[in-house]
Amino acid sequence: MQSTDTQGQGIYLVTGGAGFIGSNFIRHMIKRYTNARIICFDALTYAGNIENLDELTGNPNYHFVHGDVANPRDVQDVFEQFNPDYIVHFAAESHVDRSILDSDIFVRTNVMGTQVLLDFARMNEARRFLQVSTDEVYGSLGATGLFSETSPLAPNSPYSASKTAADLFVRVAHKTHGLDVVTTRCSNNYGPYQFPEKLIPLMIHNALNDKPLPVYGDGMNVRDWIYVGDHCRAIDMVLHGGRAGEIYNIGADSERTTLDIVRVILRQLGKPESLIEFVTDRPGHDWRYAIDASKMRNELGWKPEVDFDEGMTRTVEWYLDHPDWIENIVTGAYRNYIKTMYEDRE
Ligand code: NAD
Ligand code: TYD
Repeated sequence: MQSTDTQGQGIYLVTGGAGFIGSNFIRHMIKRYTNARIICFDALTYAGNIENLDELTGNPNYHFVHGDVANPRDVQDVFEQFNPDYIVHFAAESHVDRSILDSDIFVRTNVMGTQVLLDFARMNEARRFLQVSTDEVYGSLGATGLFSETSPLAPNSPYSASKTAADLFVRVAHKTHGLDVVTTRCSNNYGPYQFPEKLIPLMIHNALNDKPLPVYGDGMNVRDWIYVGDHCRAIDMVLHGGRAGEIYNIGADSERTTLDIVRVILRQLGKPESLIEFVTDRPGHDWRYAIDASKMRNELGWKPEVDFDEGMTRTVEWYLDHPDWIENIVTGAYRNYIKTMYEDRE
């Protein structure tokens, strides 16, 4: 059952709220709960974009605080100023390819940052800490089977290793210190405001500019795609209805290969398949992810509302309608990243 407006009352510290999923979540919360006060706490790294929340400027229920989750002083300040009831922890370095190029920042932000937040949540007796995690902590599947909440943890990339470590510190905060925690593990998200380093927005951007679409390996790796709005509703439900100490897998039964995705994008944009370019595979590339979300469905009554075709149509349209958003991103630092990442692969 979806929570009611009165249940939404409280002060929410949303870390990483200027990123892709965090900004969608904040919009969801502000729309849904008139009495929720949202504090977006974000370091504004390359992936954080304050423009993502422009429409909330002046909204009395929304506040932005610039800060780093791995810096105890910044975290202390925001707890002292707002004394949040709930911590919804999105802030992370989130891209597998970047984690292969340089893992240090992944350990600092994802592991140390989570521990710093857990300490302050405990000291300030927060009502609940929600860890936004990923199915990538379970590693890779073969042709059959699904990840359940009891699947073994078997990360294969520096990114997923750092998220797994963070999840374990969250578990410890509950088991040892009695903090009320819940953890969500979602599959691959897509939708508006996703940074164009991830598969779907990168391919949309390249296709729009008639640039090659770099497909790793043979393009047969499988991901289980979910529209970002469905993930945000699920997080809201776990935050308000999940059982303390529990893990909830989130996914929309929507498995697609990389090639499936790229072809859908080309079709929607009326571009030729000759733009597809097979490039050197990602090292340690997980072959298949697929989620069993029955716990979310049975315990909390959640189900996805946006099917894959509808979600992709909305997503492509959003990027077509927001050329300025993407133009503001694909400047200096982004160009350097694309050069480092893709130049030697061709
Ligand atoms: P994103 O990269 O778009 O956003 C990350 C945000 O965190 C940015 O706003 C960035 O500025 C902020 N941030 C980074 N380091 C910080 C620090 N030290 N202090 C404060 N803020 C910092 O990521 P996303 O795709 O929105 O993912 C959000 C969360 O969801 C992550 O924890 C990720 O592991 C998880 N997740 C993502 C997906 C997906 O498909 N994108 C799927 C499952 C789980
Ligand atoms: P990505 O969006 O990076 O998400 P994740 O690796 O966390 O699942 O990649 C999704 C899939 O797309 C993954 O199998 C790797 C593949 N991929 C490409 O083939 N080419 C690309 O340029 C990118 C970024 C990803």
